[in-house]
Amino acid sequence: MVEEKKEGIIDSVIDRVGIKEAPLFRTPDYMYNISYWLGGMVAAAFAYTVITGLLLLMYYQPAYAYQSTMNIIYNVPYGAILLFSHLYGAYIMIILAYIHMFRNFYVGAYKKPRELQWVTGVLLLALTLGASFFGYSLVSDVLGVNAIDIGSELMVGTGIPGATTLVNWLFGPGGSAALSSSPEVRSELFDRLLGWHILLVFLIGVLFMFHLMLAERYGMTPSKKEKSKVPAYYTKEEQLRFNEWWPRNFVYMLSIVLLTWGVILFVPNLLANINGLPIVINPYPAPQAGSPQAIHTEPYPPWFFLFLYKFVDFELPNGQPLTPILVMAVLVIGLLVLMFLPFLDTSDSLLLTRRKFWTWIMTLLAIYMVELSVWGYLQPGVPAPFSEQVVLLAPPAIIVGLIILFWPSKDNNAVGAIKFLFRFQLTPLDILLASVSTLALAGTAVNFLVEPTVINGIALAPVAMLAVYSLRRVAPYIVGRKKIMANGQGSVGVSWSKNAAMVAMFAILIISIGLMVLMWTLPSVGPQATYAGMDLGVILMLWGIAVQLYHYIVYVR
Ligand code: HEM
Repeated sequence: MVEEKKEGIIDSVIDRVGIKEAPLFRTPDYMYNISYWLGGMVAAAFAYTVITGLLLLMYYQPAYAYQSTMNIIYNVPYGAILLFSHLYGAYIMIILAYIHMFRNFYVGAYKKPRELQWVTGVLLLALTLGASFFGYSLVSDVLGVNAIDIGSELMVGTGIPGATTLVNWLFGPGGSAALSSSPEVRSELFDRLLGWHILLVFLIGVLFMFHLMLAERYGMTPSKKEKSKVPAYYTKEEQLRFNEWWPRNFVYMLSIVLLTWGVILFVPNLLANINGLPIVINPYPAPQAGSPQAIHTEPYPPWFFLFLYKFVDFELPNGQPLTPILVMAVLVIGLLVLMFLPFLDTSDSLLLTRRKFWTWIMTLLAIYMVELSVWGYLQPGVPAPFSEQVVLLAPPAIIVGLIILFWPSKDNNAVGAIKFLFRFQLTPLDILLASVSTLALAGTAVNFLVEPTVINGIALAPVAMLAVYSLRRVAPYIVGRKKIMANGQGSVGVSWSKNAAMVAMFAILIISIGLMVLMWTLPSVGPQATYAGMDLGVILMLWGIAVQLYHYIVYVR
């Protein structure tokens, strides 16, 4: 009689679901690196905002938009955490989507056979910005209502036939309805905004499924060292050498989701406790539209449209302002060029030196978006004469152009150049730098905790970056993954580093139990609930690190 092997619960669930047979792509070892999983991080942020959005829906009342928002922050248990992390979930999703897009450009992931993935990606980005815009306006604070007014004016101002109908469609009775004393009129506006918000999120979900299906079809773009020409993908036979999706990809993905969610929870709940924060990044709503305090609030658009806001201030060489139709034309053409980039850049190489023109354009796009956003923040609504535009925009164009033009074709990819900067070669200077920067970090962090002002926060950022950079260099030697040789070169030796990782995992478990107990004692209602939000954020980040350690212990050879 053949004795059947006893299955554990997890094994039998996996067997019934058939995940091992699912046509999910296999992954080579070198792809277990965060840059290959940025899309997954965007998806994690999306999932987070959907979940928190559904919960917020239970408390939000369109007819009393501002009051119900305040009720969520001040009266609903853990409401402040829900609202602030929903907002920052969207912000972080936008930032990650941009990083994902530029990364995919630089590695050439938009080229054959992934053209459709790029096109759907640009649509996803546009939908994400749209959904965030409507979400931002739902609060009925002065900033959100202003954003509706500016958007409507811009569209109607183009004079394009049908623009007024479109504005009516999008905003119903318009921003002024937010000031009405009648709940019916107010809900006419906010019901509609809520409808668009949810509809766009739904469309993101549907399109994302298609985007993901394409990712599964071709796998992730191989490194340029492996495949430098189009079409760059591993054949089915090549894939057989790689790791199966289950369980390694699942474990890696889990760590990324936990880390992303941890950051989404931690950052806004920390920011909510800092006084004097710039209004564009403050998780608290601005004063209610039409209230006496609103008069003193500078009208800013959401930060992700600041670049556009500045662009509208541009003047032509003859001193005339840009007309709304010209603004729209530039935007639409720009978006179309970005969307159809895979068909405009026809080079068959993934190397940046073989696609210099588009590397120049995309690099400038990134620089200009940041430049215009900062400019828009510092001088909102101030006309920008042509001469000023030249002074600010020409130097990056010339400098980037020259660098790309004379980029040596041997060491021809930017990723290689960045890796060169991080090449491990431990010197006494590294150890000194790591010690000094860690001490400086401890000092500035304490300073910030004692006096949480914006200046102290800003001072913390570069010190933290320096500390991370220097610790990254020495950490592999400390945990024993590399041994210091007499000549200062590192060599790989993993003998006891896995033991160290086990100890770290155990420590994380103990710390997170402590943090969970602590959460129990923290207030659940009102702004103080944000402490619990920070606590939960740290717990999730620690678990994310623990799963990374597990991945390292179990899978990394
Ligand atoms: C906004 C929501 C978006 C989500 C949720 C998303 C999600 C994903 C996911 C899960 C993948 C699989 C591989 C990975 O994890 O990186 C992926 C790949 C990809 N995405 Fe996106 N994405 C989004 C936006 C974009 C944008 C804005 C672009 C570019 C314009 C883009 C272009 C691509 C390309 C070309 C790939 C293939 C990457 C490769 O082969 O290495 N995506 N995306």
